[in-house]
Amino acid sequence: MSVRRVTPSDFIKAKKRGEKIVMVTAYDYYQARAADEAGVDGILVGDSLGMVVMGFQSTLPVTMGMILHHLRAVVNANPRSLVVADMPFMSYELGRKEALRNASKLIRRGAGAVKLEGGIEIVGIVESLVKAGIPVMGHLGLNPQRSLARGMGLKGKKADEALELIEAAHALEEAGVFSIVIEYTAREVAEIITKRLRIPTICIGSGPGCDGQILVFHDLVGLNPNPPPFAKKYSDAYRIFVDAIKSYADEARRGLFPDVARYWSMDPEELVALDNALKRQKESGSR
Ligand code: KIV
Repeated sequence: MSVRRVTPSDFIKAKKRGEKIVMVTAYDYYQARAADEAGVDGILVGDSLGMVVMGFQSTLPVTMGMILHHLRAVVNANPRSLVVADMPFMSYELGRKEALRNASKLIRRGAGAVKLEGGIEIVGIVESLVKAGIPVMGHLGLNPQRSLARGMGLKGKKADEALELIEAAHALEEAGVFSIVIEYTAREVAEIITKRLRIPTICIGSGPGCDGQILVFHDLVGLNPNPPPFAKKYSDAYRIFVDAIKSYADEARRGLFPDVARYWSMDPEELVALDNALKRQKESGSR
């Protein structure tokens, strides 16, 4: 995409041109800067922050407050990429009013769009958000926010579940979403959805036949020692961090850090004045 600041309609145009869309998650200022400098089209402030930033076992404890906090850091990087903010568990299920209230907080904080997990059951909520002028990204297949009821396994393996996902994709498109994330779903299902929709599909763990791909920042740079099976590690950042901290600790313990270039002295006259002042204090018995 060659536009200055990426918008939801650029995603749709990219699909028409047959250009792949690339997204990555980010949760802070420098992650967003790095992603943007690398030239991604979209940055997702995902509720995956629950696991990779907070160390929770799932995304369920993530709150609006946490997403808003990390969204502010990402927006401060002023990225050219489209910033999409996740709507966390229970931020839209209570009804249209609550969904509008929460989505508008994300937009006011600087998101260019919001993402909601769910199928047919969220169509009404999506319609309300779109009607209010809020760009919405859908999220089908594995929905980690529904993991207690539906599990975390591969989705769309059986024909009836595949059919349900295809129906949901059509319903979300009709409701006005500008793209749909398809997570950990059989590749054939992702491909069928991609071929049938005018809006782009952005896949994670659902094969190559989608209009775009997304990965979690920590998984792709190698900061997460236990990434999901579909994530590819493009560097070993965790090892790089540990090695850097070890080198620092070693140098600090051996008195090699800080070295002479990393500390500063007083002017000699000021040092003499300080010395004299300390002597006077001692003589007067005040110290
Ligand atoms: O929260 C997240 O990071 C996501 C991606 C897995 C798409 O929803």
